[in-house]
Amino acid sequence: MTRPYRFALIGCGFFAQNHLHAWSEIPEVELVAVCDIDPQRASAASASFGGRVYTNAAELFRNESLDFVDIATTAPTHRMMVELAAEHGVAAICQKPLAWEMDDAKAMVSACAAKGLPFMVHENFRFQYPMRRIKELLDSGAIGQPFFGRVSFRTAHDVYSAQPWLVDNERMIIIDVAVHLFDLARCFFGEPQTLFTDALRVNPIIAGEDVATVLMHMDKATCIVDASYETRSDHNTYPQTFVTLEGTEGTITLGPDYHLQVVSRGIVTDEDLVIPEHPWASLPWNGIQDSVYNIQRHWVDCLAAGTTPETSGLDTLTLLDITLGAYESFTTGSRYTVGSLS
Ligand SMILES: NC(=O)c1ccc[n+]([C@@H]2O[C@H](COP(=O)([O-])OP(=O)(O)OC[C@H]3O[C@@H](n4cnc5c(N)ncnc54)[C@H](O)[C@@H]3O)[C@@H](O)[C@H]2O)c1
Repeated sequence: MTRPYRFALIGCGFFAQNHLHAWSEIPEVELVAVCDIDPQRASAASASFGGRVYTNAAELFRNESLDFVDIATTAPTHRMMVELAAEHGVAAICQKPLAWEMDDAKAMVSACAAKGLPFMVHENFRFQYPMRRIKELLDSGAIGQPFFGRVSFRTAHDVYSAQPWLVDNERMIIIDVAVHLFDLARCFFGEPQTLFTDALRVNPIIAGEDVATVLMHMDKATCIVDASYETRSDHNTYPQTFVTLEGTEGTITLGPDYHLQVVSRGIVTDEDLVIPEHPWASLPWNGIQDSVYNIQRHWVDCLAAGTTPETSGLDTLTLLDITLGAYESFTTGSRYTVGSLS
């Protein structure tokens, strides 16, 4: 590579701060511009991380010569941003959830494919250090053929202070958090064929569901995905995800505080995983922050190698089908056959 990849970040809100810090650790990229409709947010990002300031994405694309754009706005603007990027021949990495509707997601994938542009979704949970370890163990055959899984995210952490837009979302925890857990289940077991959802709203101030349980049926396994923003336990583990995987030769358990236990052919191994450090990371978010670095590193490695990222736009169409299908199952009270909405 003769020069760094020139990129812009659009949407300088809550989660984008992690993106910006992570990019600053990746030498192959250069932040040339930041954009937010809120001028104060854009200026603050520029003051800390550099780049020219824009409040209008169309103007940004008109004025700047970019290799890629990092879109960290919320879902309603994703299609417009990705289509703008494609129009200008710019590769895109876009935050999850990719879209609220399948048609929008398909349009984004088509727009990038038509121009041969790399397109990845910032689906970072599978890039968490403990999840990479679990995947390695599974692939090494440590527990034989997996037949049962549970991927769980339960907390009473006040998510609404930092992300007030979640309060009014008619679809909430399934598309906000279970989407990550579905992706983990796919990463561990492969694609589900059907799923069944039960969900509730516990907190009366919000519009959507804040507790959800989804039963996923794979070819040779069953996996429970469960998420809650109303779990008042005495051990606050936000924002950790717990995993149990049972196989014909053993069990993998990722519990609180990144405790990993592997039972493999009768031998028990316990380990307290240590999340790799970053100077900008802070408790309790360090596990997620490290995954942001890892996924952005993956994006740059794929750009350099010309390979398709793990969580490409195309791959994410299946994830979105599962996610929207989970709502379909909840609404109809029946099993959803994966692929019906695609
Ligand atoms: N992967 C994760 O772990 C994770 C965690 C939190 C949030 N997220 C996702 O990140 C996205 C952003 O969430 P957030 O909580 O940071 O939201 P936020 O509201 O704090 O930030 C979004 C920013 O986008 C800006 N914006 C909106 N429309 C714009 C437009 N047309 N042009 C330019 N800027 C525009 C807003 O002004 C705001 O500053 C969401 O899709 C959310 O689901 C992902």
